Amino acid sequence: MTNEHINNLPSGVVLYGGGSQARIVRPIIESNDSKIIAVIDDTPDLESPFPDIPVYQGFEDFKSDHTNLLFGFGFLLAIGNNKNGRNARRKEGLADLLTSERMKPITIAHETAYLDPLSKVGKGTQIMAGANIIAYAQIGEHCLINTGASIDHDCNIGDYVDIGPQATLCGEVNVGDRAYIGANATVLPGIIIGNGAVVGAGSVVTKDVPLSTIVKGNPAK
Ligand SMILES: CC(C)(COP(=O)(O)OP(=O)(O)OC[C@H]1O[C@@H](n2cnc3c(N)ncnc32)[C@H](O)[C@@H]1OP(=O)(O)O)[C@@H](O)C(=O)NCCC(=O)NCCS
Repeated sequence: MTNEHINNLPSGVVLYGGGSQARIVRPIIESNDSKIIAVIDDTPDLESPFPDIPVYQGFEDFKSDHTNLLFGFGFLLAIGNNKNGRNARRKEGLADLLTSERMKPITIAHETAYLDPLSKVGKGTQIMAGANIIAYAQIGEHCLINTGASIDHDCNIGDYVDIGPQATLCGEVNVGDRAYIGANATVLPGIIIGNGAVVGAGSVVTKDVPLSTIVKGNPAK
């Protein structure tokens, strides 16, 4: 797989999630000749984050208005992982649902992000401003690589992973599916972070982290 799918967007995109991440990704989508045609959110009575774009409460509500059009739309899960990484499973279920309805995940990167041509980025992943993805790094599907995060050479990141703002993953770090790395955390070279594990903001990870474990502090425990 090459990275040609990044910022190669269909004309109409649906955002799942109507919070702050929706507002952050809108300019990236629009700067790539695409338009957000709807926002879907499960929160009852949520106001649309954009006065000019309708919000639908849940997928069925959206589908009833667009039954024969779904296959032409791209989608993006505009959902962050909040404080403790609990949204990853939810994102996985939503991606499965929307894909089964023939919608296609879009992959975006802010124009100031650096993506080495020898890196690989999976579908549905979003890379925010100033992030650095270095040679031979591999990032899975539906990940969020937040503002200024660095994923160094030969890192391997699973699916539905959330890397917080300014987090630094040194070379050859492995991060399992649905893991969550908090803002400004540093993960030392070659460390393995298990599936669903959480690394607290500002932590320095010096040892492997078992799956579904929360670690924090310096050194992270
Ligand atoms: C590590 C984390 C997941 C723990 O969440 P939690 O289980 O709800 O923990 P609490 O807030 O109840 O704190 C529990 C204890 O851990 C401490 N703690 C929390 N986060 C910490 C961190 N990042 N580093 C060091 N200590 C931390 C608290 O001070 C508290 O200590 P105390 O028991 O001595 O009072 C969370 O604090 C965190 O760092 N999340 C990352 C947030 C982030 O980076 N978001 C990016 C948004 S884009």
